[in-house]
Formats: sequence, C-alpha cells, structure tokens
Amino acid sequence: MLPPWDSAEPLSGARYSAVELATDGERVFVLDQLALPTEERYRTYADVAGVAHAIRAMEVRGAPAIGITAAYGMALAAAEARGLSSGGYLDRMTAAAEELCATRPTAVNLSWAASLSMRLAREHADADGDARWSEQCQLARGIHRDDVVACRKMGQAGAERIADGSTVLTHCNAGALATGGYGTALGVIRGVRDAGKSVRVIATETRPYLQGARLTAWELSQDGIDVTVISDNMVAHCMAQGQIAAVVVGADRIARNGDVANKIGTYGIACLARQHELPFYVAAPWSTVDQATPTGADIEIEQRDRAELTHIGGRQLVPDEAEVYNPAFDVTPAALISAIFTETGVLSPADVAGGRGT
Ligand code: MRU
Repeated sequence: MLPPWDSAEPLSGARYSAVELATDGERVFVLDQLALPTEERYRTYADVAGVAHAIRAMEVRGAPAIGITAAYGMALAAAEARGLSSGGYLDRMTAAAEELCATRPTAVNLSWAASLSMRLAREHADADGDARWSEQCQLARGIHRDDVVACRKMGQAGAERIADGSTVLTHCNAGALATGGYGTALGVIRGVRDAGKSVRVIATETRPYLQGARLTAWELSQDGIDVTVISDNMVAHCMAQGQIAAVVVGADRIARNGDVANKIGTYGIACLARQHELPFYVAAPWSTVDQATPTGADIEIEQRDRAELTHIGGRQLVPDEAEVYNPAFDVTPAALISAIFTETGVLSPADVAGGRGT
C-alpha cells in the first residue's frame, strides 16, 4: 500500500514512517506495526482517542515514536479546541495529555512530549484558536525532526565503536519504526554502514510481541543489511561461540543514576555480555533521560495483557488455568553498560546520570 501522506517528503526521511502528520494538520498516519512484516498498512486517526488507541494497541511503539505520536495527538486536540476560550482550551489539552500519558507508562518520551505541548498551551492559551493549533502542529513536527537528527548523530557517534566486519546483537526494535526515522540502536547499525564498514546483525525474536523477528528483521532487510533472527534463548550460545562482537539496544527510560529500562530480556542479555566480556551499548536521545527518576527501581514497569503470552497468531499455547506474568520491560543496572550513545556523543552512564553532555 502506498503511504497516505500528501507531502513529497515524509519527516522520517525514508520510504516509510512509523508516524506522520498530514500537511493540513488534521490527521495522523500510523504505520500499523501489528500488520508487519507481511503487510504495509497505514491507519488514519483524526482525534485524540484514535491516537491513544494506536499507542495502547502498539500499532505504533518504541519510546521516541510514541513521544512523537503523542505530540501529534496534542496537535489534534488543539484542532478540536479551536472554538474554545483559553480556559476551555487548557482543559481540553490537559485531558488529552492525561489520556495519551495513560496509554503506556514506561517510555518517558511520551510524558516528555506531552509536557512540552502543555507548556506551549499555557504560554499561548489566549491566542486565537487557529494560531494555537498551528503552533502545536509546528511543535510536534519540530519534535519529530529533532528526533531524526538525534538518531543520525548518535548513529554516527556509536558507529565509531563498532569495528569493520562486526556482528552486532540487538534486542527488540529500536529502529526507524521505533523513532521519527533512522533509529537509535539500528541508527548505529546504519551509521556503521554509512561509514563504509560492513556489519551484520543478529536480532533476537523478542517474545512475546516479536519486535525483533517481525520488525527489526523487516526494517534491516528493507535496507539490504544482513540480519539473522535467533530465538531469545540462543543468546548465551551465540556469545559463547564467539559469534557476537557487541550488543547495541535502545532505551525506554534512563534514570538519573544511569540505570536503563528497555524491552524485557535486555537485562539478561547485559548479564550475558558481561560474562562473555563483550561491550554492551545503549543508544538513546536525551529525551529518554529522566532526571526526575532517581534509579531504575523507581521506573514504573508496564504490565501487558495475558493474551500476548498465551496465544501466537490466534493459536492458544497456555492452558486457561495457568497464571501469566507479562512485564513489558526490565531494568539494566548502569554498572553493566559500557557506554551510552546520544546525540551529544558517546557517554558513560555516569555522564548521562549527571546530565553531562547535554
Ligand atoms: O514495547 P515496545 O515495542 O514499545 O518497546 C520498545 C523498546 O523497548 C525499544 O527498545 C525502546 O523503546 C527504544 S526504541 C528507539
């Protein structure tokens, strides 16, 4: 299916985008990641409820991408509130921010984007309705553009740490599909390629939602980058066999002490990397760093529906009587992280923790 946006150049800078705002500012287009890798299907949303649904259902996912989607949702709220007084506008925007932030609690980019939008709303609440809407569209597009620039910069910085001919292991999907475009962890892979070095990727399938098997493998294949999918329980074996040179993953929230919340399974991979003396890198923009959260233990971990674990493709794998535990994220302690790649360069977790490098 052709992308539905009407602008020649999507802000992602790629053939496809996780999310885009229509040029008229009245609709949000979401590439439905539930349909990948077999179908490229875009969904169109014209109100906040629709955008909140897309995030909750994980049609769009990945910390930076859901932050951008929330900002576009806030722009739709401003469109809906065009005829309202300043008080009515602020009430409508506050309700929209609450609805969007309640969708997924762990990725800090979501509340970060909503708070930027609320600050703008408060500053210009007295302006004319069309002007308020247009400013919110501009802010959201700016967040999108900045994210792509940040991904490219961290990709370039991180690529310097990856030697020519390396095989890099990544978990989940921290690519163009999870960001405004280009990707964080996969941005580093693209950075290695763009620097003229050869690189091969091992992608864990990432149970239960299978972001690695379905999304990372699709995205890298689209770019002609060599990718091999393994099941999550093969990581130790591949490391022991010397098949992996480094691990690069994304992040949903980095606490003030440098602990990193990311897709469930990341912590186990970090432990295995330490055991095998392999570098374990995190790639994330500064919008993922949360100075208000002191340590990883303070990060709220999203719990997801049991059906994600009990069923695959409609087929039931787990008996009805069994309980299911389905946390979407885990926390990797700062001590296991070799370096964090950001748009301001390669930093230690302690540098990120202290806000140095911003
Ligand atoms: O549950 P998801 O698919 O939203 O989780 C995504 C991840 O854990 C990513 O690694 C993280 O958001 C970084 S995306 C650049």
